[in-house]
Amino acid sequence: MALDRKATPNDLNAFWMPFTANRQFKKAPRMFVAAKDMHYTTADGRQVLDGTAGLWCCNAGHCRPRITEAIQRQAAELDYAPAFQMGHPAAFELANRIIDIAPKGMEHVFYTNSGSESVETALKIAIAYHRARGEGARTRLIGRERGYHGVNFGGISVGGIVTNRKVFGTMLGGVDHLPHTHLPGQNAFTKGQPEHGAHLADELERIVALHGAETIAAVIVEPMAGSTGVLLPPKGYLEKLRAITKKHGILLIFDEVITGFGRLGSAFAAQHYGVLPDMMTTAKGLTNGVIPMGAVITTAEVHDAFMAGPEHLIELFHGYTYSGNPIASAAGIATLETYKEEGLFERAAEMAPYWQEALHSLRGTRHVIDIRNEGLIGAVELEPIAGEPTKRAFSAFLKAYDKGILIRTTGDIIAMSPPLIIEKPHIDQLIGTLKEVLDGLE
Ligand SMILES: Cc1ncc(COP(=O)(O)O)c(C=O)c1O
Repeated sequence: MALDRKATPNDLNAFWMPFTANRQFKKAPRMFVAAKDMHYTTADGRQVLDGTAGLWCCNAGHCRPRITEAIQRQAAELDYAPAFQMGHPAAFELANRIIDIAPKGMEHVFYTNSGSESVETALKIAIAYHRARGEGARTRLIGRERGYHGVNFGGISVGGIVTNRKVFGTMLGGVDHLPHTHLPGQNAFTKGQPEHGAHLADELERIVALHGAETIAAVIVEPMAGSTGVLLPPKGYLEKLRAITKKHGILLIFDEVITGFGRLGSAFAAQHYGVLPDMMTTAKGLTNGVIPMGAVITTAEVHDAFMAGPEHLIELFHGYTYSGNPIASAAGIATLETYKEEGLFERAAEMAPYWQEALHSLRGTRHVIDIRNEGLIGAVELEPIAGEPTKRAFSAFLKAYDKGILIRTTGDIIAMSPPLIIEKPHIDQLIGTLKEVLDGLE
């Protein structure tokens, strides 16, 4: 029989950790106790170079004074205001600033608290948009294999990462998937966007023919797929998706939770690739990861479809207690100011060629079967150990941590996405240490 016990301070048992090998972690915990700029400090006093901007979110680096102070000030002045039927200035101010840097044509912001919630929100808006325009049969949602759109039911339904889906039942009905764009046979070791694979967007025509365009509400893709291990859009692919969705009256949603706020060297991937979707989902870098916040950004066309009927009626029955929370809004404003003042998006673009060459210098290193990169993001794919997928990359992660660098792994892929303040010597350290780690792996 289980003991009736209370947790004691520093007992690791009570906290069921997310996306973590809990039993492994609790036997050999990896604890961060402080962070500054490019580095974390571990509980045993070591400095660890942040090769992943936390979880692809701390784009301005850690504990930036402007952001810290803005949060402190806002918490002391207006801690919370009801999100429904009431407002406060910071939420409006932040929305305007987001629109300032968003692609031309994006005009409205709906706040959430995470990337997952942004995805649910965008999917719901898409379906309700068509209904508001008298096309209520458009309810189908199209995602893509290997896509990651967070962990809620809508997101895992349109998502395509098998482990995130298969144990959770039947999910949403009326969902279909485009094929993923990973063609290692033709594109391995490509620097930047691969040449081959634009034709995979034509699969959307097949899906449209199968279900009928009049039943499809939206297509959602990551313009550059991050969590599955950094898969870039083949040249011409996003343009084709845009043309086909437009032709059939289907909304195109870019999930920019990772690509938003400078990761590719532009504010958003939509600008980097020159393709304008109807909606963009964001989170992470919006507040530098410091306070949970997300935002769905829409065109006027999407927003305006709801602005009909008597003015005393709520137009969209959707929202969260913490939508546009004052402290999160203050963090968002200070974050966008930091990006602008320090020119961090431009900096990411300037540093990208050095990053690319450093990453690709790992070609030929033991176990490496592919390297992919864009902006300040990169992936190194390893040959899996036969019969033990993920084990080799996880060993690399543990060894890298011991040697003072933080990387991320997904399957047998190592993904890196450092803060945009990274300097060349940090890149040298990150890649040099990773090479040592790979050379020493079984
Ligand atoms: C493209 C994309 N969408 C959604 C999410 C989910 O975000 P969150 O973990 O904030 O819910 C992520 C997280 O990595 C993501 O990369």
